[in-house]
Amino acid sequence: MTIVAPDDAGIESAIEALRAGRLIGLPTETVYGLAADLANDAAVRSVFEVKGRPLDHPLIVHIADVSQLVDLVDTSDIEIPGGLSRECRVLVTECWPGPLTVIVRAAPTVSRVATGGHDTVAVRLPAHPVAQRIIRGLGRPVVAPSANRFGSVSPTTARHVVDDLDGGVAVVVDGGACDIGVESTIVDCTGDRLEILRPGAISREDIEAVLSANLDTRDDGTRDDGTVSMVSDVPTGPSRAPGMLARHYSPRARLVLHEHRSLVPRHAEFVLDYSADVVAAARSLYGDLRRCDARGAPEVHVVLPPAVGLGYAVRDRLHKAAAPR
Ligand code: TXA
Ligand code: MG
Repeated sequence: MTIVAPDDAGIESAIEALRAGRLIGLPTETVYGLAADLANDAAVRSVFEVKGRPLDHPLIVHIADVSQLVDLVDTSDIEIPGGLSRECRVLVTECWPGPLTVIVRAAPTVSRVATGGHDTVAVRLPAHPVAQRIIRGLGRPVVAPSANRFGSVSPTTARHVVDDLDGGVAVVVDGGACDIGVESTIVDCTGDRLEILRPGAISREDIEAVLSANLDTRDDGTRDDGTVSMVSDVPTGPSRAPGMLARHYSPRARLVLHEHRSLVPRHAEFVLDYSADVVAAARSLYGDLRRCDARGAPEVHVVLPPAVGLGYAVRDRLHKAAAPR
């Protein structure tokens, strides 16, 4: 596989590869994606194969323009005009392009290979200009899960993609290090109320502000009468999002998590501590975990960032990465 620059020639080679049914490494503002043409079921199937991902774990469809959402949504329910709830419309209008994925009812034309056989589809409009140019150039949506082996740490540089998936990918377009560093916020918009399935850079606070609604502040999976609930960090239960599996996002090293620096043992050799800087924690975490693995660290001590904004997403990933094998 080759890493190409995000210039006209590089972008054209990526689009050509997608047209030929091959897979590419796609830079986004969150993490690098493993992209395939949504319209090519054989290509979409090979995404599962290259990642080592179970076939029933659905992929996120990436679009370059809000107008492409319309074709993906099931509009057969006349009670829901255009197939999208008011809350969903407001969210995508306010947060796209950006690190937000919405789950909506899938139009019958959407590949059930991509949706893992579900009648719902996850859709995101990434903010990275290179991702937008590639999708726009192809002229239709792509699927793009994170470009790593299933269960391991997501890639935040082009080099990470090569390290994980060499051989499975035609080209990786080098769009630089990912600005955010953790995966998008996933909001399920198919029920009576919105549910955050995976926390990300669009925080609960952001969603509350955009919808002028109070979210359920409990995150143990129980609900109150609010219109939006927070169900991430549910340790067990149906794995609607693989990110919700008990163990995910894991390096080879054993992770030991601490609420305070003072609790890290004095002899600890590998320590990650971002203090209160939740933005730096998100941006650096996956690269730092990979560096620890490369140095053969048997265990890494991590000081948890505060549970505010992006810190919530970082804590979520760390708890899943540290779950028992
Ligand atoms: O930031 C991101 O979202 C990155 C970049 C590349 O855009 N992509 C990403 O994809 O994280 P992936 O495949 O690693 O994670 C997709 C998540 C999974 O947890 C999956 O279960 C969930 O989205 N998902 C996809 N379709 C779904 C559906 N129909 N219902 C529930 N969850 C769904
Ligand atoms: Mg992933």
